[in-house]
Amino acid sequence: MKYNFETVHKRFNTGSKKWDEMVAHGVKEDEDIIPFSVADMEFVTAPEIVDALKYELDHSVMGYANPTKEYQETVCAWMKKRHGWDAKPEWILPSHGVVDAFFDAVKIYTKEGEGVMLMTPVYYPMYHAVQDTNRVLVDCPLVRRGNTYEIDFDDFEKKAADENTKLLILCSPHNPCGRVWTREELEKIGNICLKHHVLVVSDEIHFDLVMPGYRHIVYASISEEFAQNCIVCTAPSKTFNLAGLQTSNIFIPNEKLRNQYLTYLKKTNPNPKCNILGYRASEAAYKYCEEWLEEAIQVIDRNRNLVKDFMAREFPQIDVIDMEATYLLWMDWGKLGLDCKELERINHEEAKLFFDEGYVFGAQGECYERWNLACPTRYVQEALDRMKEAYKNYVK
Ligand SMILES: Cc1ncc(COP(=O)(O)O)c(C=O)c1O
Repeated sequence: MKYNFETVHKRFNTGSKKWDEMVAHGVKEDEDIIPFSVADMEFVTAPEIVDALKYELDHSVMGYANPTKEYQETVCAWMKKRHGWDAKPEWILPSHGVVDAFFDAVKIYTKEGEGVMLMTPVYYPMYHAVQDTNRVLVDCPLVRRGNTYEIDFDDFEKKAADENTKLLILCSPHNPCGRVWTREELEKIGNICLKHHVLVVSDEIHFDLVMPGYRHIVYASISEEFAQNCIVCTAPSKTFNLAGLQTSNIFIPNEKLRNQYLTYLKKTNPNPKCNILGYRASEAAYKYCEEWLEEAIQVIDRNRNLVKDFMAREFPQIDVIDMEATYLLWMDWGKLGLDCKELERINHEEAKLFFDEGYVFGAQGECYERWNLACPTRYVQEALDRMKEAYKNYVK
């Protein structure tokens, strides 16, 4: 490999959300253990991004920053090259993050008491965006079939047809279920939403992290009608591990919807939202780091296969859900017959494994674990060894 996917910068006492949670469970600095929870990567930053940031520090003034024309064109060039999507620079609105953006969208495009659809289990801040803003959660449970999930379109349409339902937050690719929605599925979703006047907020933050054999389709690229009835939330933050720089690109092709969003931003956030280093890092990533991304995907794919083969061999009771995209492997540990709190305890205290617990993604996630695989393979292997040892007393 050209790039380094072996070195881990230990993030003890650096303010890392993921590492702080592990330390809170008693892991000490001299233990060679990493967490597998929060969705950032244990890979060192691509050198092209580091160089761009160094240059910026030497040459820049850290004032309020708007996105430059070059930045916006670079983002659009990535959309074209990677996703075949002809996006226009003027559609882009900056946001600190995609979570901010879907919270904003719920507040801008719906009123209190109106319904917002989620396809559950799903990334847990989406529940907050609905419930903490006094909207009504319209739950469209995904259906598990074997080791994958499907949409129950009869149920989906029934929910969309309710006059009170105004918006869908689509998670595409889906976290935590790992699905890359096919064109056919997206067309069905989109046609139902158009028919029943439901606006689509498509969270596509994981869209670049697609496993070999799958292809992500940007929702707005499917048809002009779909483009006019959606906002597409993207970011380089998952793709290139830049979450701490808080720079996202929210695409709104529909001028009226875009102006509504802009008006809201001007009121709530009169100064530019993102920071200059985030823009520079993102620009360098989209311009120079595609090869880094391809290699990162190879490592994640290798880790995914390692866990899958290990579970089939050692813990056939654990169902490993097909991870078509993201680096977050969703696993059903229910057939081990242990209560979820007991699973969590064994993982933390005995196996020293720090996953995201499935129940945070909704009731269907009980006794599931979500394993972040964006790390050097040796840590995954070591974790599997610890798991085998810890569970020998619990699993027959
Ligand atoms: C589906 C999804 N949306 C949004 C985010 C976070 O977005 P941001 O950090 O840009 O707010 C995540 C992070 O894991 C995610 O999985």
